[in-house]
Amino acid sequence: MQQVGVIPSSSSHPAAGDSVLTGDGAPFPFPYHIFLLLLLIAPIVHTYRGHKRLERRPLSVRLVKILSRMRYRIYSLIYNAIINCAKPTLSINIFPRKVLVTDPSMESTLSRHTSETSLANVMFLIGRRVFGLSDETINAIGSYDPRPVHVGEFSSASNVRALLAQVSATASQKLRSQPDVQEAELGPWLFKLTSSSVASALWGPESPWVVDEEFQTQFMEISGSQMTLLRPFSRYTAQAAHKARAFIVDRLRSFHVKNRDSRLRQIAHRINAVVLSDPNWESNKDYFNVELLTSLGLLVTPSSMAVWMIRHLLMRPDLFDRVAKEARDPNALDAEGNIDVARIRESFPFLAACLYETLRLHMTAIPRLAKADFDVAVPNSQPIHLKSGDLIYLAMSSFNRDTTTWGSDASIFSPDKFLTDSGRLSASMVRKLRVFGVAGNLCPGRKLGFETILFVVANMLRDFDIENPREGEDYPEPRTEDGFGIGFERCANEITVRLRRV
Ligand code: HEM
Repeated sequence: MQQVGVIPSSSSHPAAGDSVLTGDGAPFPFPYHIFLLLLLIAPIVHTYRGHKRLERRPLSVRLVKILSRMRYRIYSLIYNAIINCAKPTLSINIFPRKVLVTDPSMESTLSRHTSETSLANVMFLIGRRVFGLSDETINAIGSYDPRPVHVGEFSSASNVRALLAQVSATASQKLRSQPDVQEAELGPWLFKLTSSSVASALWGPESPWVVDEEFQTQFMEISGSQMTLLRPFSRYTAQAAHKARAFIVDRLRSFHVKNRDSRLRQIAHRINAVVLSDPNWESNKDYFNVELLTSLGLLVTPSSMAVWMIRHLLMRPDLFDRVAKEARDPNALDAEGNIDVARIRESFPFLAACLYETLRLHMTAIPRLAKADFDVAVPNSQPIHLKSGDLIYLAMSSFNRDTTTWGSDASIFSPDKFLTDSGRLSASMVRKLRVFGVAGNLCPGRKLGFETILFVVANMLRDFDIENPREGEDYPEPRTEDGFGIGFERCANEITVRLRRV
């Protein structure tokens, strides 16, 4: 689940050169054509993402960048307004397809249509440009339902236990090998720690996420910039993403060649759509493109949520101290003095509450593509007819930020709402969340993802003090990246922390 930039229809905007009214009613010609031209140029020039350059850039470049940021901010405002206004559905025609945005009241109706809609089929819209997939592979992805395979691999109790054992081995080893004191950018450090831990369970402990620092850096790059590949002339306008994609696919190929036998035993291989559809999968170049697609789907959500959680906690020292106290409580450890991943929810209820609160605030919306024509019943209204290829947008955030459910402070990080009076996790509050899916479809990796984050963060807080190297200064508020949160939001601003081993 990633961020995507979509340019909304401008049909509701005044035409270029139309006059607008000033406060006293006198018309004046607003230079829309120049404004429009700048808006159009902005995405082409705006290839910047997450790189720091020290030299001061010329005014023209800075201006274009500011406009580009404004464009994203305006579009994300519109996008969020659309999501929060769907009552109970909002249907937008973006020729040739219809986009249906739904609110919570439509959940039970839509859960009757899970077999006619699919998340994987969204590849018909972006697979070629974002992942370089061929039409054959896109059709193969669209022609079977991956859900039974995913549930089989990720959801059974014994599989989750085995996967978590590998996750915890990798996370513990990575934390042990950290220097006693270091200054690091928190986001990349924690993102890499979490993604490498999950990857070690799905691709194996020798996979490049675990052993190859440069690969991890490029993976972080593509995880933030993959949707820039949808830009016009993306070879020129999304160079960083192109470079990262080529690098990753290349390294995955050489990793596969060197570790072929162990690779074939890994889950990542068994769930690969090319393996499932092409007997000659090994000579099919899309095998590695699908590996990239899978890794972005499975590794990025838990890693981004771990980062959001710590950022929220650092803004609230009172909550941070409670979590750190819980993580260091000797009673929560097993007989060897380690954190027992199998009992992690029970041992660390406040940390789990903080994670639910993080997911509540940052999981956004899920797109699904209609696989066939069907009618959606709408209460007190005509049914909406959807055609194969239309897009349905299920807004999780409209559940999760609803003030009638969560109170007037619904937009504030306040994890105690997930605890009972006796300090346990409140099952009834957790049930109100929509963070692992909506309308009859649930994430098959939810237990693995949730408990991985708890394990990584609990160990980090147990082993390290987190200090602000800018003594006397407060951390900046975490900011949400502009654009459109498909699935989840990403944190836009970075902080440097000093990690000191306890
Ligand atoms: C905290 C971490 C995670 C969160 C919040 C999360 C959330 C989600 C959501 C919202 C969906 C869409 C469900 C829908 O269609 O309504 C999804 C789908 C999916 N997730 Fe997760 N996920 C997480 C971690 C993981 C992990 C670690 C794995 C695998 C090991 C995983 C595997 C999948 C798969 C395979 C799908 C696609 C299911 C389908 O095709 O319908 N997720 N996830």
